[in-house]
Amino acid sequence: MGSDGREIAPIPAKLGRRFHGSMLHRCALSATGVRLSTMRYIGSKGAIVETVLDHLQQRESSGTLCDPFGGLGTIGAAARRRGYKVYSGDILHCAVAFQTIRLGFARPPTFKRLMAVGLVGAPSVERHLQSLSGREGWLVRNYARERRFYSVANARRIEACRQEIETWRARSLISEYELRALRASLIASSDRVANTAGTYYAHLKVLSAKARRAYRFELLSPAVGPIGHTRLCDASVRSAERPYTILYLDPPYNRRSYAHYYHLPETLARGETPLVRGRAGVPDRAMARSHFNSRPNAQAALEAIVATAEYHTLAFHYADDGIIDIECVRAILRARGPLAEVTLSAPGYTVTSRRRRVEHHLFLVDG
Ligand SMILES: C[S@@+](CC[C@H](N)C(=O)[O-])C[C@H]1O[C@@H](n2cnc3c(N)ncnc32)[C@H](O)[C@@H]1O
Repeated sequence: MGSDGREIAPIPAKLGRRFHGSMLHRCALSATGVRLSTMRYIGSKGAIVETVLDHLQQRESSGTLCDPFGGLGTIGAAARRRGYKVYSGDILHCAVAFQTIRLGFARPPTFKRLMAVGLVGAPSVERHLQSLSGREGWLVRNYARERRFYSVANARRIEACRQEIETWRARSLISEYELRALRASLIASSDRVANTAGTYYAHLKVLSAKARRAYRFELLSPAVGPIGHTRLCDASVRSAERPYTILYLDPPYNRRSYAHYYHLPETLARGETPLVRGRAGVPDRAMARSHFNSRPNAQAALEAIVATAEYHTLAFHYADDGIIDIECVRAILRARGPLAEVTLSAPGYTVTSRRRRVEHHLFLVDG
């Protein structure tokens, strides 16, 4: 069982590694008020998000919070609910698409321009996408017929939604933010029936119970609270843009590249239909790379961010076994100001079937 209580089907050793733990399903609301899972995500702080926010709030009860390694916006959405104005970012389009719907809208998108094709408001757009009949296309061929990431029946219905959204985009019937909201919803909805153990690094050999469930398009909705800003950019850029009350840094802490593990969500978020290769169907394009996945570069990348950013409180979230040595982290942060440290224990990902817990350090520095 995964740490979220859901069964994780075994993955054939040849196909890849098995992940558990920190890739939890996180919840958001649908356009019709139903609680929806967003997507499982490596390094998600979903299991400890409220504890993290409690620590931050003890030091800064209000103001701005910058989350430049924002992932799916889990910390950002919780901070928004507590009244902070959130500025988040990421280098992945799929992460920014999730952040946009969770942080960038005051209320569910109105899809005003879609009134021209008879669709009035978010529930009507959602129902329309749910009612489409299956279509053949790029996703069906590459990820259902040639590889088993979805059942063919589900892939045909995902493809129909994908094509419809991209047609609306091509006809300028939706705004850029609405496009991101629709793409994030498509990714989350299709992830709920993906035949994977959590990432798109590999598919399972046999269709799992999850993959045999019927696909249904569900529109994600924004979190409540002050409207935030999201941006596709490197964390060094986002952090240096303005002074923040809280700068929360949660970078990758090992060599696993998010661009590779989430290549299919990323392709959907980019609206592309590239040539793909190998067992995992990885697209033939340059992948976003992060210095934080690289042992020789991670330390310098952290030093560069903390040297240029302005903040009242800096929070640096890192795992015990990260590629920057924890003593080195302490030295870098101590040089910036008085340092406090909290240890949090959270489910971690593992390459074995055993569960494991990861010790996280939340370092807090006065600006
Ligand atoms: C540990 S995850 C963040 C998880 C997030 N806090 C949550 O709870 O879901 C790290 C994120 O940083 C992003 N990332 C990696 N390098 C980056 C960089 N140089 N600039 C911005 N984002 C980066 C990854 O794409 C990934 O989404």
